[in-house]
Amino acid sequence: MGSQPSAAVENPSGRISFSNRLSIIAVAAGSAIGLGNIWKFPYIAGVNGGAAFIVVYLACICIIGLPVLTSEFIIGRRGQKNVIGSYVRLAGKSSPWLTGGFISLFCSATILSFYGVVAGWSLEYIVKALTNSFAGKTPAEVGGLFGSFVSSPLKPIIWQLVFMGITAAVICAGVKKGIERFSTVMMPLLLAIIVLLCIRSVTLPGAENGIAFLFKPDFSKLSAAGMLDALGHAFFTLSLGAGTMITYGSYFNKKEGLAATAVQVSVADTVIAILAGVAIFPAVFSFGLEPGAGPGLVFVTLPNVFAQMPGGYFFCILFFVLIAVAALTSSVSMLEVGVAYVTEDLGIDRVKATLLLTFLISFVGIFCSLSFGRLKELTFFSKNVFDLADFLVSNIGMPLAGMLSVLFVAWGLGRTNVEDEMSSGGSVPIGYLSAFMIVTKYLAPLGIAIVFLHSLGII
Ligand code: PFF
Repeated sequence: MGSQPSAAVENPSGRISFSNRLSIIAVAAGSAIGLGNIWKFPYIAGVNGGAAFIVVYLACICIIGLPVLTSEFIIGRRGQKNVIGSYVRLAGKSSPWLTGGFISLFCSATILSFYGVVAGWSLEYIVKALTNSFAGKTPAEVGGLFGSFVSSPLKPIIWQLVFMGITAAVICAGVKKGIERFSTVMMPLLLAIIVLLCIRSVTLPGAENGIAFLFKPDFSKLSAAGMLDALGHAFFTLSLGAGTMITYGSYFNKKEGLAATAVQVSVADTVIAILAGVAIFPAVFSFGLEPGAGPGLVFVTLPNVFAQMPGGYFFCILFFVLIAVAALTSSVSMLEVGVAYVTEDLGIDRVKATLLLTFLISFVGIFCSLSFGRLKELTFFSKNVFDLADFLVSNIGMPLAGMLSVLFVAWGLGRTNVEDEMSSGGSVPIGYLSAFMIVTKYLAPLGIAIVFLHSLGII
């Protein structure tokens, strides 16, 4: 590694930090909890053997998720700068470790370009729910409604821009008045909505079938591919390899225990993912519908369910507000990665940097949106623009950047620096340091390498 990070050892003067522990958990959990929790986790858990999968998933969170998350917090808080600046400060200006920072920066911007599209759909669906557009429609009609909406050239783009505008407004307001204030209001709201939806769902007749789908342990359904899905999902759901946790880590105050924070964020993320399953599947099964994953589940199956459910009008609105809120606290974290870099390293002021990046990311997002309609035929390696962006970051960029962050902490930063940072200068006892070093040196990189090779179809 390059220069030793002596300058970063002291609490750097002047860097803004989140107010307290609760805020830290709210912002980091806000980034982690997003579309991935609501439309992916419940379904992959259900089809891969319920509780059996959840056990494997928890093991993946412990072996890969926690070490990488803690490593990213360490890089950010010790570097006290944005994702690139932190690597520069800790590793040196021309260090090859900087690659991890640049890949992360690319990932956060690219994810946001397609994430904003789907999040924009949820805004349209809030309006559809408010105007009771699903009432009296057959499942095929609700499916048709979705198909014609996403393939139309203008409407989804307008909603995507509205969503990006809200994200930009939060970022313009700053780290404390924007990100912190927004997340500390939105996360309790998200929890309240999900609990209400769970109560509605489990009190429907036949709800137990959905609970069984989600929880009944069935090890025979758990394939090797399912386990690898668990590993990959652990990465995406904790927002790893995209620079968000490094950037947020740089705003943590020096007192907080980083490993404890990582554990709490992971627990919050997992609890919400499981609650999302409890909110969704009992209702889906109660009305005799087939569970599925992704857009079909959220934008077709569930509106059908709500249309038939007592009180469905109200719960449908709540559900799409939930999706929008979950997506917003994640998108804010993605935009902050680039904005922190541009303001600190390129010297552009926050508002200008936000506008510039929002413009660029939204521009790419327009192509992602159009890949459901006008640009359907535009493919690269037989993937449309949306799928290509998703593949590039989820399967290549994030695992690579996550791998580099954990390797940098274990091998580049070294035990003494890690001990100093994790123990917050000796004030937090860390009896698990040796275990942490072994996991970050060997186990986590190995696990990530396996996911990486699997997602490229090599194993
Ligand atoms: N963790 C988010 C989710 O589960 O939806 C997705 C995400 C957010 C990925 C932020 C990456 C990121 F930087």
